[in-house]
Amino acid sequence: MKRRYYSMKEDIIRVQNDTLLAISAAEDARALDEARVASLGKKGALTALSMGMKDVPQEQKGEVGALLNAARTEITAALEQKQQALEEAADRAALAGIDPTLPARFLPTGGLHPLTLLRERAVGILRRMGFALADGPEIEDEFHCFDALNTPADHPARNVKDTFYFDSGKLLRTHTSSVQVRMMEKNVAPLRIIAPGTAYRRDEIDSTHLSAFHQLEGLYVDRDVSLPDLKGTLEAFLRELFGSQTEVRFRPHFFPFTEPSFEIDVKLEVKGQAPRWIEVAGCGMVDPAVFEAVCQSRKDRSFDPNEVTGFAFGMGLERLAMIQWGIRDIRLLIENDVRFLRQFA
Ligand code: PHE
Repeated sequence: MKRRYYSMKEDIIRVQNDTLLAISAAEDARALDEARVASLGKKGALTALSMGMKDVPQEQKGEVGALLNAARTEITAALEQKQQALEEAADRAALAGIDPTLPARFLPTGGLHPLTLLRERAVGILRRMGFALADGPEIEDEFHCFDALNTPADHPARNVKDTFYFDSGKLLRTHTSSVQVRMMEKNVAPLRIIAPGTAYRRDEIDSTHLSAFHQLEGLYVDRDVSLPDLKGTLEAFLRELFGSQTEVRFRPHFFPFTEPSFEIDVKLEVKGQAPRWIEVAGCGMVDPAVFEAVCQSRKDRSFDPNEVTGFAFGMGLERLAMIQWGIRDIRLLIENDVRFLRQFA
């Protein structure tokens, strides 16, 4: 028994030394794993020795056991160390020849379209004034686009030459004013909404006209809304947008759904050019006939024209963008020429 104990002690030390040698000699992960399996694996040398513990005499079990544990701890630590060293060497090899001090490759970030930039600014200003964002369909019916807006059947805007009609009788909305009607059908006064969106007309495309363009509709209905409210709101908006020195002009006009009605011009001053007035919006006091049509559609008197008044406006977003940046041809806004668009990114 004594001999067995000594040889066991020697065996443990021999296995430990052999394994540590194999670990330090390992040149890759595979060789390292082989060293691990050969000692600590199910059929490994150290595992076999551990199983021999049962034959060690009781009074020597403590010493031999401690020796076995120490061998296992050393081998495990050596395996971990070597694995880290191999990984670091692999990382270094992968980075060989790469200069980490080189400047990064340029990645273009893209940018927002000028119309988007302008719409976001315009909506931001009006929201701070208390207007809430509203929305409506681009495929409209004649009631919301024309009839409820006091536009008679023979009005030129309803002509098939000016409006895109579907066989169903529906149409592509010719203005965002249809959202006024939809909002009044679903809400009660006081009502303060803005609705940016696309509108469609069968216009010849030229430097100031597109057949699909963008408007920003506004509607304010309450008791005692007056013409000074309309003027003050829109002047403040345009000065906030274009600068406090901006000159604004209200010209009498006609719309079927407002009375009185105006067109708003903004003075465009471009260096080296004579100042020009540019039309940017239509507006006016909501015609009582519109409130009456809404009451009939709702089947109640929530918008009784004897109780409420309101103003409405519809701005051309392309026009505002042209003024903002001195863009001379509206078609630049739909051509997607990066040389043009890049200036806004
Ligand atoms: N809808 C009119 C247009 O497209 C603009 C407008 C809106 C006028 C609201 C008055 C009130 O020309």
